[in-house]
Formats: sequence, C-alpha cells, structure tokens
Amino acid sequence: MTAQLIDGKQIAEHCRLQVQQQAVAMLQQTGVSPHLAAILCGDDPASQVYVRNKEKACAKAGLRSTLHRLPADVTQQQLQQLIAALNSNPDVHGILVQLPLPRHLDTVAILDAVTPLKDVDAFHPENVGLMLQGRPRFLPCTPAGVMRLLSASGIPTAGRHAVVIGRSDIVGKPMAALLLQKGADATVTVCHSRTPDIAALCRQADIVIAAVGIPNFVHGDWLKPDAVVIDVGINRLGDKLVGDVDFDAAVGHVAAITPVPGGVGPMTIAMLLENTLTAARLQTTRP
Ligand code: GUN
Repeated sequence: MTAQLIDGKQIAEHCRLQVQQQAVAMLQQTGVSPHLAAILCGDDPASQVYVRNKEKACAKAGLRSTLHRLPADVTQQQLQQLIAALNSNPDVHGILVQLPLPRHLDTVAILDAVTPLKDVDAFHPENVGLMLQGRPRFLPCTPAGVMRLLSASGIPTAGRHAVVIGRSDIVGKPMAALLLQKGADATVTVCHSRTPDIAALCRQADIVIAAVGIPNFVHGDWLKPDAVVIDVGINRLGDKLVGDVDFDAAVGHVAAITPVPGGVGPMTIAMLLENTLTAARLQTTRP
C-alpha cells in the first residue's frame, strides 16, 4: 500500500483564495488593505528565500507587503527603533522579523518589542499565553498550518496518540499545545534530544510530527502501518531539499505523509496570510 500524499500546496492555495476574497471584502467595507511589514537582517540565503516567498504569497492574495532589509551588523537599537516605528504606524497591520537573527542581537528582546496586536508570527509572550489558554489572538504559523493540513485531509486527532519530535519555541512546543487543546483532543508525547528511545515512542504513535531539523531522522521502521506522518523539516542535502523523515522508506507503508517540499512549508505561509488579515481586522474599526 502506498500512503496518501497530503498536498500542502493545494490546501495552501485554497486558504490563500479565501484570504484574497476576504481582503477584497474588507477593502470594500472599510477602505483598509492588510499590510505586512517583514524585516530581514543580513543575507542568510535560506532566510532570503523564505522572505521572498512570503512577499510573493502576499501579492498573490492581494495583501500589501513591505520588506525592510537591514545589514548583518545592524545594532539592537537600530532594529528596535525600526520595530517601534512600525508598531506606531497605523498603515502597518502585521510585523514579521525573519529568524534567525545575526548572533550579536538579542532575539528575545527583539521579538518582545513587536506590539502583540501586530505579532503575526504569534511569538510574543502575550500571544503564546493566549494560545496556551485556548483563546488565541494569532496562532503560530507552522503549527497552525499542520493542524489545518490534518483537518483539511479529514484526519481526526481526538483520542489519538500524537508524537511530536522537537521542542522548539516556534514548532514543537506550540504544536503540542494545539494538539492538546479542547477540540483537537489528542494525547501528546513530546520527544527531544534527551529522550531515551524515540523510536519506541514513534512506534506507538497514530500521528508523528517531526520537527528536529535533521535529515532522515525518522526511519521507516519507526512508523506504524496506519500512522499519519507530518514532516516539518526542510533540510538541504547536497542539491536536494529533504525532510526529517526518511520519505522513501515511509511512503510505502504508512497511511498518509506530507512531502518535502510541498507539505508543511506552503501552509506556514498560508497561515501568515490569515494572521495578517486577522491583524488588519483587529486594528480596523468599521466606518
Ligand atoms: N524562521 C524560521 N521559521 C520562521 C517563522 O515561522 N517565522 C519567522 N519570522 N522566522 C522564521
């Protein structure tokens, strides 16, 4: 049996069309067009690609975006000044600081400086707290994209055992929180670098979510035949992009799997578009 391929590109396209329709309606009703400000510090090649893809997606969805490029040696103060200016600019609805930042910068202080109402990445502690309490303002883009992939593919989570591999602030931790929340109702295990036998835990999983950033970390024989596998990894291996799961070994015997590329990646961007629309709504009072 070959697994169902979960087509993130197609599901993301559907989300984008919905954002586009809602942005048109918003413009007609309020005269406001959602506007995302993205900040890119330095010239990390992967970050440049990600930011370009986010700009392209905004344009396709009819959202405005502005890219603020800063040199790799930008000071903490200069970056915080730019964020303060964007925070107080009523024409900017969403602010995204592309990570990773150059090492001399204090990432936590920078992310805390983004006003929570414009925090479309949902990285600010206020938004993390609201999400954990089950009353989200914005959902973090990659975990929200995974939840949407599951629901759009008709894959239930309630009562199922989800194993999340990775405990990053951006993916692993919020992913576990979303799977656990009321309505999603999964039983969640989170594995990390100090977990003794990740293979044994994966073998018990109905849903495996791999977010470790190590190519082919999850072996085919770690997966139950009826498992659903969501691969968040995007790793460069030679001239190929591969995920955290050994796709070729897994695809033959699991129930469903996301490809890399074309799985979670497009969904992260689609959720950013939704959050930008939400941010614009939060900041707009009907005339
Ligand atoms: N770098 C890797 N993933 C992300 C993300 O989701 N948001 C931002 N801003 N930077 C990232």
